Amino acid sequence: MIELSVCIGSSCHIKGSYNVIQTFQQMIEENNLHGQVDFKGTFCMKQCDKPGVAVAIDNEKFNIDPAQARTFFKENVLPKVK
Ligand code: FES
Repeated sequence: MIELSVCIGSSCHIKGSYNVIQTFQQMIEENNLHGQVDFKGTFCMKQCDKPGVAVAIDNEKFNIDPAQARTFFKENVLPKVK
């Protein structure tokens, strides 16, 4: 089980965290990963100054462009659960 979190703080919200959440939820459904990915929203990850939405896989932090959320999931989440 990996923990996947998306920042829902105000700065990330403006940068599109809602879209990232939607995409990740969809990917979890499509790949049937409910038992393998603990998906949650989290408060400000102190990454506001970086471009993109703050995302964490376990304790590793990333900043992603919402338009790249699908690619990010494929490249960084799927290899950890398959
Ligand atoms: S609001 Fe997301 S890192 Fe600060």
